[in-house]
Amino acid sequence: MVESLTIGRHSVPFPIIQGGMGVRVSGSRLAGNVAKCGGIGLVACAGLALNSEHYNGKNFFAADRQALIDELHKAYEIAPEGVIGVNAMVAVSNYDECVVAACEGGAKLIVSGAGLPMNLPALTADYPEVALVPIVSSVKAAELICRKWHKSYQCLPDAIVVEDPDTAGGHLGEKPELIGTGQYDQYATVRGVKNYLKEKWNLEVPVIAAGGVWDRADLQHALAQGADGVQMGTRFVVTEECDADESFKQAYIDCCKEDIGLIMSPAGLPGRALIANIEQVRQRDVDLDIRCPSGCLKKCAYKTGQERFCIVHALDRAQQGDMRTGLIFCGSNAWKAERISTVKEVFEELFPVAERNAS
Ligand SMILES: Cc1cc2nc3c(=O)[nH]c(=O)nc-3n(C[C@H](O)[C@H](O)[C@H](O)COP(=O)(O)O)c2cc1C
Repeated sequence: MVESLTIGRHSVPFPIIQGGMGVRVSGSRLAGNVAKCGGIGLVACAGLALNSEHYNGKNFFAADRQALIDELHKAYEIAPEGVIGVNAMVAVSNYDECVVAACEGGAKLIVSGAGLPMNLPALTADYPEVALVPIVSSVKAAELICRKWHKSYQCLPDAIVVEDPDTAGGHLGEKPELIGTGQYDQYATVRGVKNYLKEKWNLEVPVIAAGGVWDRADLQHALAQGADGVQMGTRFVVTEECDADESFKQAYIDCCKEDIGLIMSPAGLPGRALIANIEQVRQRDVDLDIRCPSGCLKKCAYKTGQERFCIVHALDRAQQGDMRTGLIFCGSNAWKAERISTVKEVFEELFPVAERNAS
């Protein structure tokens, strides 16, 4: 029996969100095709300006906004009736503008993490049909968001994504020294958030598990452990439709477990990535004496010192196929990638057709 997923006013046949993957790893093509197959597709808004026709090297924020709207329109060309949303990182300088642009561009939901999205309801007040979905890694973070939203905006989340710092890709919401220690329990956190919403607010909205879901067994495990759906990132990178360069996808296929590790991002958060080339990633900007090019993050060590690297440009280089100095974010399951498949094949494996007919 396949359970559908309803978030706010929007429903999809399958309980799956394709995780937002910044700097054009999940652009229109991936998000549109996931939505076409019956999941929720997310365009990640981080760094969209860089590889867009709107960017002239000086107008990062204006280009970012326009590129996001373009990307949403292109995604809807692929899946006109699909549920397509935007992943917005609280940590980016133009967070407020990105959220408003996402609403203008027709996003049906905003999924928001890398910080607590405390003011999200204020930004979307003119768009009541847009569902609001915070990403958290603890019950405490869910409590803080709910209390603030209820007090200041008289609303509560339409769903919550619980992201596991031990397995998810990209920036992680946990102190680096606690990651991988075995202290974190992903599904205890999922159930804790569910209980909190029910007991404190009498609210039954989907709680979605993100991190470490690769195949059908993982999906079934997540649902059996109390999640209402899953958010998957890494698995969707190795699809034809993923918007990253083919060599980015090939790096997943070629990597082994030991190649996956943690880096400290200039954003002040740990991040999971392929770490073999991390010295070249860091050294490049030092050698070229490049300073913060666009001010894209609210808090960034790169703005104040030259000891690290510009993360948005490093991610952009990887997305465009520079495997030497590009930063390749990935989840802990990247080593499982064996081939490039299509989004449709991923859905058919996760939700076998026979089971769909029976439901
Ligand atoms: C390449 C890559 C980029 C990511 N970028 C973002 C991002 O921009 N914003 C965000 O909230 N999460 C980001 N994530 C996290 C995913 O959205 C997702 O929650 C997580 O990777 C799920 O775990 P999985 O990769 O094991 O499926 C990224 C993950 C990957 C692999």
